[in-house]
Amino acid sequence: MVEAAGVDQASRQHALNALGAEADLMSRDKDSSVFRHRFDRHFPDLYRLFHTLYGSRPDFQEQLTALVLQAARSWNERPSGLKALDEERDHNNAWFLANSMLGGVCYVDRYAEDLDGVRARIPYFKELGLTYLHLMPLFLAPEPHSDGGYAVSSYRRVNPKLGTMEQLRELAAELRSNGISLVVDFIFNHTSDEHEWAQRAAAGDPEYGDYYWIFPDRTMPDAFEQNVREIFPENHPGSFIRMEDGRWVWATFHTYQWDLNYSNPAVFRAMAGEMLFLANQGVDILRMDAVAFIWKQLGTPCENLPEAHTLLQAFNAVCRLAAPSLLFKSEAIVHPDEVALYIDPAECQLSYNPLQMALIWEAMATRDVALLSQALERRHNIPDGTSWVNYVRSHDDIGWTFADEDAAELGINGFDHRRFLNSFYVNRFPGSFARGVPFQDNPRTGDCRISGTTASLCGLEDGTGQAVDRILLAHSVAFSTGGIPLLYLGDEVGQLNDYDYALEEGHGTDSRWVHRPHYPAERYAKRHDPATPEGAVFEGLRTMISVRSATPEFAGTRLVHFDTKNRGVLGYQRPGEGTHILVLANFSDGNQTITAQTLSGFAAGAVDLLTGNPVRIEGGVTLRPQEFRWLRVTPARV
Ligand code: GLC
Ligand code: GLC
Repeated sequence: MVEAAGVDQASRQHALNALGAEADLMSRDKDSSVFRHRFDRHFPDLYRLFHTLYGSRPDFQEQLTALVLQAARSWNERPSGLKALDEERDHNNAWFLANSMLGGVCYVDRYAEDLDGVRARIPYFKELGLTYLHLMPLFLAPEPHSDGGYAVSSYRRVNPKLGTMEQLRELAAELRSNGISLVVDFIFNHTSDEHEWAQRAAAGDPEYGDYYWIFPDRTMPDAFEQNVREIFPENHPGSFIRMEDGRWVWATFHTYQWDLNYSNPAVFRAMAGEMLFLANQGVDILRMDAVAFIWKQLGTPCENLPEAHTLLQAFNAVCRLAAPSLLFKSEAIVHPDEVALYIDPAECQLSYNPLQMALIWEAMATRDVALLSQALERRHNIPDGTSWVNYVRSHDDIGWTFADEDAAELGINGFDHRRFLNSFYVNRFPGSFARGVPFQDNPRTGDCRISGTTASLCGLEDGTGQAVDRILLAHSVAFSTGGIPLLYLGDEVGQLNDYDYALEEGHGTDSRWVHRPHYPAERYAKRHDPATPEGAVFEGLRTMISVRSATPEFAGTRLVHFDTKNRGVLGYQRPGEGTHILVLANFSDGNQTITAQTLSGFAAGAVDLLTGNPVRIEGGVTLRPQEFRWLRVTPARV
């Protein structure tokens, strides 16, 4: 890279000449000067990143110039409304850190039949307070097996059962005018085996054969599999599957999801094109699916390799040129050290917080907050300009992703603890309240994960009042630690497991469908009746949502540790200007008191934000089982 600066200049000129040769790209109007300005600002980054990945190839320069041309064309086609948004967000680039942010996620078909149905639910989304809507994969996909749409056959076609691309564009615009950002998946680790590229590869076209990891025999697959973990062992062993003609193709997830080969720059360019196409439909945030797996290297586990980060940064640099307001959310469900590495303003500005999610459940089972508290203290704070997406559960399974090293410091053996948690959540542990089901139980490795809706995991099937308290307790953490809270829609009315899931075609072998029920209409109908569990959950969440959006201390992600000196009670502070919010959450089954001594760093007068009442804390604070408090406190002067 010593001569990089010089090459950079030549390379820059090469790209500029190509841009200049296309009359309509570099005309003198305002738009193209905006592009030119961004090109000047971001080309060095793009060059550096692309060079790191592909610099040793003889066609490096042509590939890079083609990429820049593609970005310029995409910018030219970007609707003016989105260009205006780009400009607005350029001045307000912390928009997604606001304390009013609230996310919801749903499957279009299961929650609302189709895109028109989603549109019809906008009034409800506003009632709830959503500012962010993640529609689960809605693209053309194989039938009946598509991994819930995570096997994409075309990134430019909406699944015809759900609607059309035009409807998606209209929906995006209507959501935006209602203050709701649209989030869709960018499933870029793999395509379905029915994607045109895959079909051409299967037919022997060498150009498309190079889009995937295809080998004539088992030699390379065997070599790779020495170090690679199995993700869906119930579906197929190893990471490769046999093609019809006898060759082997890489498929990390299901047999019909073929991994793309990013060592080929043509794949990068092709996917950058699909990404910019989606951006121009009006998508605000792309959920970057399965980021850990996107780069492979023989002799490594092929997860979280340095090039995976370079690749994401390169995609991000392409956005800065042609769709500058687009944000990335990382889906890395891996060791917490690795999760953190994807979070950066120049890589993924947002990230799921799988550690917090898993440890909320861990604390609920153990009635001990030690691991969760430790994780918040040492792993919660992330760079300025980035945010967590905090959730209680998602469409996926719950995996126990805490670091064994962290657990060991607290005297916990990670392997044994995971076994306990699995048996607790599938109700094999005496006295457990949870009604989860196992996912990808792998007797060979002892690995297993958990499926189940929030309410079923909290024990609502047994109808106990404590279940409602547990549901609210779990959400109180996700809503207050810092970051965008994300609700799996339907959970706000306590939806239960769908035990008939296996009757639906294509779902039988995947227990995650147990927690992806259809729109629970009867439950929603009861949401305003606080005497019902539906109403109690809804009202409790609505209170948290409105308090959160009225509390500036909840903006951003910064968290300050607070030791409650009580293993049953979680504590942390959200610092504001002058005042802090002190959060206390009792995960135990008994009353717990946080002593006057422990609270002596704060002035005696506080405000309980959830009731709106002033409270005195100089005598200590006592919490009932599963109770939580959001207290506005003033650090005492010393
Ligand atoms: C992500 C999705 C999951 C899917 C996998 C493969 O982890 O969340 O549902 O099975 O990617 O695309
Ligand atoms: C994700 C995770 C894995 C998860 C799966 C989807 O990318 O790595 O733990 O279970 O895909 O369920």
